[in-house]
Amino acid sequence: MNKKYLPKASEVIYKNIIKKILFQIEPETIHNAMVNLGGQFGKSKSIQNFFSSQFKIEDKSLKQNIAGIEFANPIGLAAGFDYEARLTQILPSIGFGFETLGTITNLASEGNLKPRLGRLPKSKSLMVNKGFRNLGAIKTSEKLTGLSFEIPVGISIGKSNVPECDSQAKSLQDIINTFMIFEKSNTKHAYYELNISCPNLQGNVSFYPLGNLKELLAEVDKLHIKKPIFVKMPLEKTDYEVIKILDTISKYCPKGVILSNLSKNRKSRLLRPEEVGKFPGNAGSFSGKPTYELSNELIKLSYKTFKDRFAIIGCGGVFSAKDAYEKITLGASLIQLITGMIFEGPQIASQINSGLIELLKKDGVGHISEAVGIRAHL
Ligand SMILES: Cc1cc2nc3c(=O)[nH]c(=O)nc-3n(C[C@H](O)[C@H](O)[C@H](O)COP(=O)(O)O)c2cc1C
Repeated sequence: MNKKYLPKASEVIYKNIIKKILFQIEPETIHNAMVNLGGQFGKSKSIQNFFSSQFKIEDKSLKQNIAGIEFANPIGLAAGFDYEARLTQILPSIGFGFETLGTITNLASEGNLKPRLGRLPKSKSLMVNKGFRNLGAIKTSEKLTGLSFEIPVGISIGKSNVPECDSQAKSLQDIINTFMIFEKSNTKHAYYELNISCPNLQGNVSFYPLGNLKELLAEVDKLHIKKPIFVKMPLEKTDYEVIKILDTISKYCPKGVILSNLSKNRKSRLLRPEEVGKFPGNAGSFSGKPTYELSNELIKLSYKTFKDRFAIIGCGGVFSAKDAYEKITLGASLIQLITGMIFEGPQIASQINSGLIELLKKDGVGHISEAVGIRAHL
């Protein structure tokens, strides 16, 4: 079968048949079923080989070394989808270039009360109120021990979502414990994300007062971690606040930033009020298209202000190669997504990579690194 044929066929089947069925069923039930299926597929060499032959896009124009890590392509699965570390073996075969697990916390968490996940199809968004549902750092590291990864796998670390973690001092110790568990483990992860931007956590601790952020980063620095750390940034701060936060981070060890996390703005003109109305109260944040433009603005701001001090991972509302390329030309070297995969289908990474190769050619650019930031100053 022609290599280009199956991703397109998968998209058509997914959008016209599979998604229509899946979107009738409660989102978390479907999420669990899909992640289980992906985990099972990842155990079969023949399935991996077949998917790789159809979905993996290998091209030297997409290969980069970022923060000392080799990335075969720039499309990664963002934190929040694979919080039980089940997909590490299957994602490379369907075209992903890297994956972040988690967010993982020191103490296991069942997550917030349901509903934790909802769909807003017209807004091309998801309502997320997961609250760091995960197995905890020890169990996760045990699960990963002994596994080899074909793509760089990162661990997103955040503060435990438990009522006891209710002060800055306890939260710092809690986060440091998690880093230490993974540092002492034999897992072959390539990088860390430090998630300072999760909305909806118990304990009411925030790392935005710059003093709190400095204390956290100073403690992390003391661990002398060799693997690169990327900080997952909030979406809805003012430019002034973002520059202050980035300036603070720039004085410590993190090599990059992820721009950005979810939107808390229920009144966004990009969210249909009748869809937001299905999730009353204040809990829950929003992914997908409502985050796209704001994330682009932050990428541009960060790239222009901090130049190559930070590797930028662009995240928010990427549904196509064009969306990914926009973030790259504004300054992102790598891209992460979740919502695009749920709306467009699991072949999305493969299609974006093929599309990026075409877009680079069209612009007469030989390598992705030459496209990074070319539109940031326009
Ligand atoms: C279901 C779901 C769960 C998420 N959980 C986390 C999380 O645990 N940690 C984190 O840093 N971001 C989390 N996020 C945010 C995503 O990583 C990403 O920043 C955001 O969804 C924007 O990307 P997207 O529009 O491609 O989904 C989650 C997003 C979704 C949709």
